[in-house]
Amino acid sequence: MSSSSLRTAVLISGTGSNLKTLIDANGSGKLDLEFCRVISNRRDAGGLAHAAAAGIPSLVIDESDAAEQDRRITASLLESRAELVVLAGYMRILGDSPVEAFAGRMINLHPSLLPRYPGLHTYRRALEAGDRVHGASIHFVTGVLDGGPVISQVQIPVRDGDTERDLAARLGPREHALLRATVELFSQGRVELTDAGVRVDGHVRTTPLLLNDDDELG
Ligand code: GRF
Repeated sequence: MSSSSLRTAVLISGTGSNLKTLIDANGSGKLDLEFCRVISNRRDAGGLAHAAAAGIPSLVIDESDAAEQDRRITASLLESRAELVVLAGYMRILGDSPVEAFAGRMINLHPSLLPRYPGLHTYRRALEAGDRVHGASIHFVTGVLDGGPVISQVQIPVRDGDTERDLAARLGPREHALLRATVELFSQGRVELTDAGVRVDGHVRTTPLLLNDDDELG
């Protein structure tokens, strides 16, 4: 870890396979992150074990009062001095407090080709629509659910007879690759949110970056 490692917090709700992907990529030197915090809104989230194994400070914030939960999340993230906050399978809608405190520094992984299918049940909705292509997106988090500027996407084919489970299984590894490549851009200081939109390498994007088969964004 160098002194310039990007202080990164990850919010999870479940198995944490995306968190594990980041931990592994960091461990093998492919990323340069300092994990400053993992926060889960569920006590039984499997991903907490990945945080513990990697020695990352983690905590459960699961108050029933949403405003209080948001207040604690914001306080914890600020205290952690996170420079990047990654929502990786975090299945709760954040309120204004953390979103505003980390505007331009908070990203979310969503299993659809946004702007198609914000919200839940994206695989089912893609199948019902007869889509031949599905995918995942990473976007800046704003006050609009799954509606912030999209940074990057990965596509997968939809095959005849596919079920939701098939799509989820096919997309999972590609989501991991997308997250790894996108977080790398942040750790290299190459992406930012501006009033004009997502800027990568000094240029405002008119379309999201697309992950190719070699796991490169272009
Ligand atoms: C991913 O499919 C992501 O797109 C969705 O939740 C899943 C996260 O899984 N929002 P994990 O907890 O990282 O394994």
